[in-house]
Order: sequence, then C-alpha cells, then structure tokens
Amino acid sequence: MEEVVRRSGAEPQSEVRRYVLAPMRNDDVPEVSRLERRCFTNPWPESAYYRELREPDRNYYIVLRWQVSGAEIEPEPVVAGSPLARLFRPVRPRTSPYPIVGFAGMWVIYGEAHVTTIAVAPEHRRLGLGEVLFLTLISEAIRRGAEFVTLEVRVSNTAAQALYAKYGFTQRGVRPRYYSDNLEDAYIMTSPPLRDPAYRQQLLQLRDRLLARLAAEGIEILEEAA
Ligand SMILES: CC(C)(COP(=O)(O)OP(=O)(O)OC[C@H]1O[C@@H](n2cnc3c(N)ncnc32)[C@H](O)[C@@H]1OP(=O)(O)O)[C@@H](O)C(=O)NCCC(=O)NCCS
Repeated sequence: MEEVVRRSGAEPQSEVRRYVLAPMRNDDVPEVSRLERRCFTNPWPESAYYRELREPDRNYYIVLRWQVSGAEIEPEPVVAGSPLARLFRPVRPRTSPYPIVGFAGMWVIYGEAHVTTIAVAPEHRRLGLGEVLFLTLISEAIRRGAEFVTLEVRVSNTAAQALYAKYGFTQRGVRPRYYSDNLEDAYIMTSPPLRDPAYRQQLLQLRDRLLARLAAEGIEILEEAA
C-alpha cells in the first residue's frame, strides 16, 4: 500500500483553494457539533465526541478546514517513507485556525474498522472532499491493520451510498428501524478485504483519479502532522 501515500506532484493552479486535514481535538468539538447539526437530523451530543477522543488508540477522528484567505501555511519538506495515512502535503500542527467544513471518524478494533460519521458542509460538497475524508479513513484503517471497513447508512441516503459504492463497498444487510429520529432502516455496507491486492490496486486508481480531479479544480489538500 506504500504507493497509496505518494503525492500527485501536481502543482497548484493560480486560484488555489486550500483545505487542511487535521486530527480532531477537544477544542474542535463545539464547531464540529455545529456543522453536524447542519448535516444530520440526529446529531450526537458533544459529550459523545469528547468520549471518542479520549481513546485515540481505538478511535480516529479528523477534521477538514477550509483555508479561507490567502494566508500562508508553510508546508513541511517532503519526507521519504511517510506513514500510510499521509496522503497529502504535510503542514505543521496548529497553523490552520480556519473553519471546519468537514469531519469524519471511525473506530478500529479486532481487525474491524467501523465508520461512525462523515460529513461535508453543504456549500463544499461535490468537490471531492467527501472522498478525501473517506480515503483518509480507509488508509488509516489499513495502517492500523484492519481487515475490512464497515458502516451503516440510511436507506434514503443515496449520495453517501454512491460514495461508498465508488470505493467498492457493497450492501451486506439491513438494520431495521436503526435511526431513532424517524425509525428509518440502515444498510450495512462493507469494503472488500483490505489486504486483497485487487482492492489495493483499485484504491490506488481511485486515489490517483481523486488527486487529478482536485488538481484540475484548483484544490490543494494539506495534511497537518499529528
Ligand atoms: C456524503 C457526503 C459526505 C459526500 O460528500 P461530498 O464532498 O459531496 O462528496 P464528493 O464530492 O467527494 O463525492 C464523491 C462521490 O460520492 C458520490 N456522491 C456525492 N454526492 C452525491 C450526490 N448528491 N448524488 C449522487 N452521488 C453523490 C458520488 O459517487 C461522488 O463521486 P463522483 O463525483 O465521481 O460522482 C455529503 O453528501 C454529506 O456530508 N452528506 C450529509 C452527511 C451524510 O449523509 N453522511 C453520511 C452518513 S452515512
């Protein structure tokens, strides 16, 4: 999977739109909650996030910030042999006090990675950012040795289902009346085995296509060092 981490090498275009991926921290939770209320009908209480963040060995949560102005973020020099999750150009921690426009999280335990949440602010959708978040989760699941990734999704949420299907996830069952707000059913969707060489190859192709798309749209993704 080493190849998955290599950067596109694409040069930013004149009108660069920058986003910064960063680990979610306690300080981020109120802002994440505000965004979550815009994206979900049954948001978690803030306490649930604080609880998740207390166990970083088991749980993995990230935010995506939008670098609104042209303010400078100094990239780190590229280091050979970056960790698997390092998909994008690294920047120094805490250099990006910009609005959170996306977030995602999962837990990984006993070889299973379970995506608990993923969302992009409505005004930043259809740019490839959902894929940035989702691919980052899958890469981290691989890095942590998970065998597969699974999740629940509302049967009516065709946008999210399309995202997961694009990454090879298939429906493996239904959880009846899973969502407490309207008692809607959930589909269980699961990835192919993460060790499957054919799936690794598919991920590389998806990564390359995503990076090319972002570059073509003038979008640069930076990744804050953990
Ligand atoms: C699901 C969500 C995260 C996608 O974010 P996004 O940034 O718009 O997604 P991307 O631009 O990266 O799109 C990636 C793929 O997802 C699918 N997709 C995303 N939005 C879609 C839509 N409205 N209709 C159909 N397919 C869609 C497509 O397959 C797309 O690939 P394509 O561009 O090649 O067609 C976003 O719609 C969201 O935040 N929804 C509300 C929260 C939510 O439902 N989360 C999932 C809970 S299970």
